[in-house]
Amino acid sequence: MEDYFLGVHQKELTRLDRQHTAWQPETQQLIQTANLPNCKTILDLGCGPGFTTFEIAKHCPNSQITALDKAALYQDYLSYQIKKQQTANITPLHADLLNLGKEDQQFDGAFCRWVLAFLIDDLPNILKAIYEKLTPGGTFAAMEYLTLGNVLSSPPNDGFLANTKGWHNFYLTNGGDAQIGTYLTKLLIEAGFSIEHQSCVGGFAPVGHRWWHWWREAHEDFAPVFVEQGLMTQAEYVVANTFFKEQESNKKGFIYSPIILQVVARKI
Ligand SMILES: C[S@@+](CC[C@H](N)C(=O)[O-])C[C@H]1O[C@@H](n2cnc3c(N)ncnc32)[C@H](O)[C@@H]1O
Repeated sequence: MEDYFLGVHQKELTRLDRQHTAWQPETQQLIQTANLPNCKTILDLGCGPGFTTFEIAKHCPNSQITALDKAALYQDYLSYQIKKQQTANITPLHADLLNLGKEDQQFDGAFCRWVLAFLIDDLPNILKAIYEKLTPGGTFAAMEYLTLGNVLSSPPNDGFLANTKGWHNFYLTNGGDAQIGTYLTKLLIEAGFSIEHQSCVGGFAPVGHRWWHWWREAHEDFAPVFVEQGLMTQAEYVVANTFFKEQESNKKGFIYSPIILQVVARKI
């Protein structure tokens, strides 16, 4: 299937760009923690339009990066950016992660951010395939949600809470799981990896913080979909909208953001 449930279109591409900016420092930190700059070859799995790929390319100038995604629109955008920015160390790969085993090349490093949560049914096999694609001693760095169900606001707001619930159930009802971070490490160990690092990022974000903007924009883009899918009522949507507007004008509120697991695993 070409599409996946967050959608493949220009508006989502723009959101992914802003989302990258919101989580850029944490992403850069993971690239360094995993020591990716020491890898000669790196596979960026589910790279989307390539915001992670360019981040890796910038921090790993001596690495050759292969950027895999199944969405044609995102691969086209990535190819356009490679040409525009005259980047020599990125190669796009239009492929399905479910067929990773069929790819010939092996890699010293692999990276993925916000991808595995969409592939829950096939997760054990996908992790085994990633293990097989790595050279001995190779590193896999992943950044996936620990949970989307924890997001709270101060002051409390019923519309805001309904939106949090909407996100959690949006993943579940479409075959994903945003609590993947609670069991990803266990599955990585079962696939043969040894775990070198685990940490969580996210949390306190007052009005104006990059995570505040990211969460409000995600609400604007997806709450209408939640209403359509019966995961939130129109009235709750309106209450949440008013909450964001009021807090941005009085600048007193804060949120506790989604929490993201960062894990670094090594092929033994
Ligand atoms: C939320 S986006 C994240 C993109 C990028 N990793 C980032 O952090 O900006 C998820 C990406 O996973 C890709 N994806 C989902 N299922 C896939 C599959 N089976 N094979 C390859 N890519 C897949 C989607 O096309 C989409 O680009």
